[in-house]
Amino acid sequence: MRWLINGGLLLVLLMVLGIQADEDLVVAPGPEGDPEDDEVVEEEAEYDMYNNTQINVCNNVADGVFLPYVGNCSMYIECENNTIKEMGSCLDLEGASKMCDNPPCDLAYDPVLQLCTYADVVQCLPSCESFQLSSFCYDNTCTKYVLCYYGKPVLRQCQDGLQYNNRTDRCDFPEYVDCVANDCSATFQPEDIIYLASKASCSKYFVCSDGYPWKQECAPGLAYNPTLRLCDFAKNVNCSIDAAARNIMPYSRSPLRRADIKCPNVGVYFYPHKFRRDAYYYCVDGSGVTLDCTPGLHYDPKVEECRRPEYVGA
Ligand SMILES: *[C@@H]1O[C@H](CO)[C@@H](O)[C@H](O)[C@H]1NC(C)=O
Ligand SMILES: *[C@@H]1O[C@H](CO)[C@@H](O)[C@H](O)[C@H]1NC(C)=O
Ligand SMILES: *[C@@H]1O[C@H](CO)[C@@H](O)[C@H](O)[C@H]1NC(C)=O
Ligand SMILES: *[C@@H]1O[C@H](CO)[C@@H](O)[C@H](O)[C@H]1NC(C)=O
Ligand SMILES: *[C@@H]1O[C@H](CO)[C@@H](O)[C@H](O)[C@H]1NC(C)=O
Repeated sequence: MRWLINGGLLLVLLMVLGIQADEDLVVAPGPEGDPEDDEVVEEEAEYDMYNNTQINVCNNVADGVFLPYVGNCSMYIECENNTIKEMGSCLDLEGASKMCDNPPCDLAYDPVLQLCTYADVVQCLPSCESFQLSSFCYDNTCTKYVLCYYGKPVLRQCQDGLQYNNRTDRCDFPEYVDCVANDCSATFQPEDIIYLASKASCSKYFVCSDGYPWKQECAPGLAYNPTLRLCDFAKNVNCSIDAAARNIMPYSRSPLRRADIKCPNVGVYFYPHKFRRDAYYYCVDGSGVTLDCTPGLHYDPKVEECRRPEYVGA
């Protein structure tokens, strides 16, 4: 009796798996909705991450913060009022020619110190050169990142106060990232020093100087009081940060998992996972991968990103 039941189960399982292996593929809808029309798909408008109606790179970035420019290390972007105030180039700055005694001169924008200097001392943003899946932080935004696949850089934005975690390659709870650079204006304001509370530790805070958040630690037993902008007795501070230890493999070091859907031949698309709420598919020009949310987050098709479950669909 026993082996027969098991054998029967196995048969059913094999049938189910067999069906899934080919017939059950969901065809992801293309921009025109009809995958048969692939032959006559018009040349897509070139994707431009700075002229993107969905994600504005300066959103949630304080006035006077300068951002790097993806694809050109000598350029920078100044944010004001949550929008792009100016796109500029270090090469056009007054004094650029003085820096260059021996042209051609290699000047670049340093996103860490938010200034222009010689390119050889600047850590430029990476580029998306290979076909591999990778991602990198969009410096000084804390919430934005660039997802690379098949050499295509795509701008992404974490929702609801979540931040991009460069150790796991995805949006994460701020207590695991503790990024404050988006609030560190490079505009010099000696009369109004910017103090920022840490998102990861009650006893930690940052002081912004020339656009860089310098980390500070309160004396043992004290906690940072954001109202008074000083270290205070812990009982005077409402701080309850809880970041339990986790172990999450970054995408860049995990084996690539092909999406079990058919991706449109042209363009960049995100689709909800067929069965899981905490995963999604990413398609670039016909190739797709499955990406996971940080544990505790769910994929929201409306914003095409993982977010806190209570906000999904809201
Ligand atoms: C942004 O896109 C709009 C509409 O597609 C276009 O008219 C405009 O020139 C673009 N702006 C830039 C800076 O590329
Ligand atoms: C970067 O931008 C500068 C100034 O706009 C331009 O002169 C230069 O050719 C660009 N470099 C690349 C690699 O596109
Ligand atoms: C920012 O935007 C608000 C409203 O949109 C406007 O009143 C204000 O003047 C703007 N500030 C700057 C510095 O442009
Ligand atoms: C993540 O970013 C921090 C701060 O910019 C940097 O020091 C660290 O090396 C980065 N880690 C990885 C894995 O890229
Ligand atoms: C801490 O939070 C509670 C509830 O939100 C509030 O009643 C209390 O006044 C706060 N205490 C301090 C020191 O801010």
